[in-house]
Amino acid sequence: MKHTILVTGAGKGIGRAIALEFARAAKHHPNFEPVLLLCSRTRSDLEGIALECRAEGAITDTVVADISKMTGVRRLTDYIVERYGRIDCLVNNAGVGRFGALGDMTEEDFDYTIGTNLKGTFFLTQALFAVMERQRSGHIFFITSVAATKAFKHSSIYCMSKFGQRGLVETLRLYARKCNVRITDVQPGAVCTPMWGEVNDEMQTAMMQPEDIAAPVVQAYLQPARTVVEEIVLRPTAGDLQDE
Ligand SMILES: NC(=O)c1ccc[n+]([C@@H]2O[C@H](COP(=O)([O-])OP(=O)(O)OC[C@H]3O[C@@H](n4cnc5c(N)ncnc54)[C@H](OP(=O)(O)O)[C@@H]3O)[C@@H](O)[C@H]2O)c1
Repeated sequence: MKHTILVTGAGKGIGRAIALEFARAAKHHPNFEPVLLLCSRTRSDLEGIALECRAEGAITDTVVADISKMTGVRRLTDYIVERYGRIDCLVNNAGVGRFGALGDMTEEDFDYTIGTNLKGTFFLTQALFAVMERQRSGHIFFITSVAATKAFKHSSIYCMSKFGQRGLVETLRLYARKCNVRITDVQPGAVCTPMWGEVNDEMQTAMMQPEDIAAPVVQAYLQPARTVVEEIVLRPTAGDLQDE
């Protein structure tokens, strides 16, 4: 059976690993034929990951869109509805982080972070949840963070955005349970991705890898439709990199 799956931020890091894991899962689940819709702002990244997913046997489609802009969200959702007429899974993964002391954060840092993590995630979810509600089926993942429940001193705006995403998760569940839609909140600790910029070897070994997050996401999706994995919390075995 074909499953139409949108992964935002599929060009790098965790989203890229999730797309690849969905593509690979088809080999072990004969009834699962993923149609992967891969979205980010960088076409070359999407072309690279699409090629890798197709090599695993998945069908792919790429959409360059900036979800922080309403025009980007509308173009993406209109395209999905017109081209596919349905959506089985939305992975709300696209996210950005600006880190620094509280007093150093600027209006631009605020708008940039909130624009993608809150505004983009909200309006994309609003549009595609409406499609799932009509279908009476679907699954929405939110890649939030351990910073959605725990404060970190250099992550004020990022924490705000992630705590905010959790507000959306909890509200959406109230609608989703009434129409057979599954909601999963994935809260990773530090994962070695381009979001961190250059990191030294010691930090790299202290972090998780993107595939460590991708595997449980795909497993959660492949649970029987009667079961929802509501939360997945993943941390480096030695704990968070910083405690505040
Ligand atoms: N890495 C961690 O330690 C960690 C831990 C917990 C949670 N998370 C969360 O996991 C998610 C993925 O993070 P990551 O570490 O994989 O980050 P990443 O390596 O920087 O990748 C982020 C992806 O999102 C895309 N993106 C960013 N803003 C976008 C926008 N406005 N519209 C469309 N695409 C956009 C980026 O591509 P373009 O720049 O090309 O658009 C990129 O493909 C984020 O929500 C992050 O908050 C990360």
